[in-house]
Amino acid sequence: MTNFRNAVPGRQGPAQKRKWGVPALALLSLVALGPWTTNSRAHASAAQNTQVTFYRDVLPILQEHCQECHRGGGTGPMALETYAQTKALAAVIVNATQSKAMPPWFAEQGIGRFSNDPSLTEAQIAALAAWSKAGAAAGSPADAPAKRVWAESWTIPQPDLVLKMPHAVALPAHGDIDYTYEIVPTGFTEGRWVQMVEVLPEARGNVHHAVVYVRPPGSQWLAHAPVGTPFTAAMLTEPADPAGAMWTDNDILLVYAPGSSPDRWPATMAKYIPAGSDLVFQMHYTSNGKATHDQTRVGLRFAKTAPSQRVLTLQLTNDHFVIPPGAPDYRVEARGTLPNEATLLSFFPHMHLRGKRFEYNIVRRGEGGAVSFDLLLRVRYHFHWQMSYRLAEPLRLPAGTELQAVAWFDNSRENPHNPDPEAAVRWGEQTYDEMMVGFFDVAVAAGLDKKNFFVRH
Ligand code: HEC
Repeated sequence: MTNFRNAVPGRQGPAQKRKWGVPALALLSLVALGPWTTNSRAHASAAQNTQVTFYRDVLPILQEHCQECHRGGGTGPMALETYAQTKALAAVIVNATQSKAMPPWFAEQGIGRFSNDPSLTEAQIAALAAWSKAGAAAGSPADAPAKRVWAESWTIPQPDLVLKMPHAVALPAHGDIDYTYEIVPTGFTEGRWVQMVEVLPEARGNVHHAVVYVRPPGSQWLAHAPVGTPFTAAMLTEPADPAGAMWTDNDILLVYAPGSSPDRWPATMAKYIPAGSDLVFQMHYTSNGKATHDQTRVGLRFAKTAPSQRVLTLQLTNDHFVIPPGAPDYRVEARGTLPNEATLLSFFPHMHLRGKRFEYNIVRRGEGGAVSFDLLLRVRYHFHWQMSYRLAEPLRLPAGTELQAVAWFDNSRENPHNPDPEAAVRWGEQTYDEMMVGFFDVAVAAGLDKKNFFVRH
């Protein structure tokens, strides 16, 4: 019954109708007379449709665009699941959607198309405004779409395997917290292909970002570090270890930051975890006034069949910059050439509090040294919203493609997040230092790993 009701186009509300450029009521009488509904139902819904209601018009928008975060146990500050919850915030919701503050999305419109762009259409924004203005009516619960079910607190379907940091990390109420690592053995006796992966922090409000690395057997990275207990680089006694803690060419399983969504790859592509690998959690915690602890988990869904392509996370990094005090728009760039063919899937820019804009380009070299750039993505950077931008159509990059990442930093007083406009700012771990990393995911032949991808074939 519910499915049947979902298929009635009249229920999609003003959003759809305006998009087709047909006056709402005219279109409504057309669709309401469709073969799937009886005449009496058609008359009833024609009358109801003159008013935008919560159950029929608003709830579907919330389910599709908001509840990923705004649900019980989600990352948003409040749930938007019931009529009462939503009605109480109707005016605020109108503000947040009209200003495009919500849903959060920072890519400049018109450059590239991204499959995870959650933006509302103008018609949806107008529908929310009309609903609020007319008194935020409930309508009939019979018009509601099926309730969206979320597995536990995972956004991906129930994971096949959950790996948890074996020991909780104690987090102080105040002060800087050095990057904290925890090495988690997978115990895999054979290589596994991962189709979807999600990081679930316990102390969400304290996790500024997390990077989960795949450390295959034999890797020298953090070779003398303890397994299964938290540590920082400063705690490592072997001379080579502390300096190398931040640098590795091991593959990244995923990067998490508040607002980021889990990774899921098409059926032909997956991340690979070799037999006997460890996962290395690199946690960047921030203190927020309350002592607490964190025991982050990662959830994995395995590929049902071996994929034909392997997903690798690569990065364009520049760690040699000095941002002058007060500079409002300081530019830093990094370039790299792909030795082999790859399919570009997604981007994940990373900077700290002075981040302002970030761009990815393909560099084209023409006749007589002429250089031009194909702009792939430009984001208005926001420290609290680090997210990946997944190309709606993956892009084939022939061997020899040169990529460029460009970052702009605002070290002026005008930047409300700037911890110190007087400082000359260099690369470093802490948020008052800066970073310039353009992560990007590519798919390559299934037999390649990160090392041999960088050997020209
Ligand atoms: C990716 C997660 C995410 C999605 C999707 C999302 N929100 Fe939010 N929302 C947040 C978070 C986190 C905050 C807290 C404020 C902040 O960090 O910007 C917030 C804040 C808000 C606020 C409070 C703003 C204020 O001024 O106090 C409203 C209202 C809101 N969201 C509505 C929505 C609506 C409506 C949608 C869907 C159309 C939506 N959000 C989608 C995460 C999300």
